[in-house]
Amino acid sequence: MQTGQPDQYAVMGYPIAHSKSPRIHALFAAQTGQNLEYRAILVEPGHFPAAARAFRDGGGKGLNITVPFKQDAWVFADLLSARAERAGAVNTLLFEPNGVRGDNTDGLGLVRDLTVNHGYPLAGKRILLLGAGGAARGVLQPLLAEKPVRLVIANRTAEKALGLALRFNDLGRVSACGFAELTERRFDLIINATATGLDDAVPPLPDDVLAAEGWCYDLMYGREPTAFVRWGRERGAVRSLDGLGMLVEQAAESFHRWRGVWPDTAPVITALREN
Ligand code: ATR
Repeated sequence: MQTGQPDQYAVMGYPIAHSKSPRIHALFAAQTGQNLEYRAILVEPGHFPAAARAFRDGGGKGLNITVPFKQDAWVFADLLSARAERAGAVNTLLFEPNGVRGDNTDGLGLVRDLTVNHGYPLAGKRILLLGAGGAARGVLQPLLAEKPVRLVIANRTAEKALGLALRFNDLGRVSACGFAELTERRFDLIINATATGLDDAVPPLPDDVLAAEGWCYDLMYGREPTAFVRWGRERGAVRSLDGLGMLVEQAAESFHRWRGVWPDTAPVITALREN
């Protein structure tokens, strides 16, 4: 039963108008009977700390953080989960009496979408992660926790990939290279965490880099299949998935941290796909 004022949550970003998070959390709340409101707040670059403080001082219970403020949120949090600490980025804030807690649920969302929703275990797999920016860094620890046999980070700027590999190499077998060094290598799962999709393009990859029976996963999603999803299909991927499932799963992880209950994600993913 819902009584009293609803608890307040929001997502902050720039831009924010197209965020699906308010719809996702409204569906979660309706499904689980949680008394909460969740809105999207546009924050001008440079104004994140003031906006987050104002939201908390107004009684807000928690925030999601999206581009370009995940690093600002990492700085803003008083207490970080080990995962967020490593990622150098926070997508979930909890305003608690003893301080602001920061977590990063992006990688958990990706792993859950692959392993639970699609039944694709990552243990023993050869994984290629494309990109070495914030999106790549946010998913590395949860990916390595699944114990792939190896994980290679490939990036246009190879040094950035190398820096990331060094930062995470105590967690598993992770190495780095530029795209040109991928010839004669095969991977069971290729994950696109580059920004190339914004130009409807894909990184320059060798044609045979996807192993037989391989899968592709794009962290981006769109109304139409993304360029990388199409790339995977054209190369015979068993499945070539976009990031909508990850989006809903990372939201579910945040919802659970805030409210202590797990929403059922399947009907929400279906509803967003139909939209
Ligand atoms: P995000 O937070 O989305 O990861 P980012 O930190 O700016 O954004 O990182 C963007 C990623 O996309 C980087 O890996 C970038 O490669 P560089 O490190 O070489 O810049 C990659 N990227 C962007 N445009 C690209 C392009 N045209 N071709 C290949 N990679 C590209």
